[in-house]
Amino acid sequence: MLPTIAWQDDNIVMVDQRKLPASEIYVTCKTVNDVAKAIKTMVIRGAPAIGVCAAMGIALGAARSKATGTKQFTTEFQRSCDLLAATRPTAVNLFWAIERMKRSFSDGALAGESVEQLRARLRTEADRIHDEDVASCRSIGAHGATLVPADANILTHCNAGALATAGYGTALGVIRGAVQAGRKVRVIADETRPFLQGARLTAWELLKDGIDTTVITDSMAGSIMLSGDVDLVVVGADRIAANGDTANKIGTYSLAVLAKEHGIPFYVAAPWSTIDLATPNGASIPIEERNAREVSHVGNNQLAPAGAHIRNPSFDVTPHKYITAIITERGIFKAPFTETLGASSISDV
Ligand code: MRU
Repeated sequence: MLPTIAWQDDNIVMVDQRKLPASEIYVTCKTVNDVAKAIKTMVIRGAPAIGVCAAMGIALGAARSKATGTKQFTTEFQRSCDLLAATRPTAVNLFWAIERMKRSFSDGALAGESVEQLRARLRTEADRIHDEDVASCRSIGAHGATLVPADANILTHCNAGALATAGYGTALGVIRGAVQAGRKVRVIADETRPFLQGARLTAWELLKDGIDTTVITDSMAGSIMLSGDVDLVVVGADRIAANGDTANKIGTYSLAVLAKEHGIPFYVAAPWSTIDLATPNGASIPIEERNAREVSHVGNNQLAPAGAHIRNPSFDVTPHKYITAIITERGIFKAPFTETLGASSISDV
């Protein structure tokens, strides 16, 4: 499996996803500031991977802290949490992971643990979050595989793969699960303008696994659906509101509308950490607006003339009415999502 993020000599190492597939370069983060920068600049991206990375970043900050007393250590811990929370606004996994680290910290503090014990507990919690993410993805894959026909053309958008998680992937986890279950699968990967996660990352990691992959430009999806060459669509998610409305990479909404028009099932695959029951619907999900240069340029080549206004919302919201089912490690959820997702969350309290 691909090494998305790992500890190495007490630093955090991650593959630089901005450089793939042309070069496989690894970035070493030695401080929590390095980690925040890596998330902000998309060295690492994908909602679950961002959450795992933030948890590891908090543990790294604690490990590097020179504080000897709990007061100073607590101030620095809080600063790490605030710094990481300010990196990317849409992926709820980021805030979920920070909350988990805060809960663990306050459990330790309430029990009167020393700075050394608190450091150790934060590292343990971060490692747990990492390992649970891989386990969730594998379970999503096993559940999702049951929805894939014996011979299937599957369209996906962006990269919701091993690179976007601690390993295995969510949407690509469903594809891997289907392949492992013996289905014959061909993947159609949207290139995913402007950052090209589909063309660069999804195609790269699927080909490494020997999975048949065709890259298309985003604008080709409708015509390929019309020709009957898509059996199902599966995408990841950055945040799923209580009613099932789903924020994911810009372009997902258009695909969902097209899928409905052509009678093609549209699935969202995500770990439970992506479900945000505190957000009632898609209108309340914050959408990140990224740098205009991602749209006006490809690499160093300028496409749009200087002076043109540029929009770059990085995500869109797919209303729940377009979603056939949400695949999580807890199982497959169908409408009415407010009830089905809500009922499953009762075990959380
Ligand atoms: O901007 P990105 O690359 O972080 O956006 C990623 C996506 O939109 C993914 O589909 C989503 O985070 C799910 S990843 C399992």
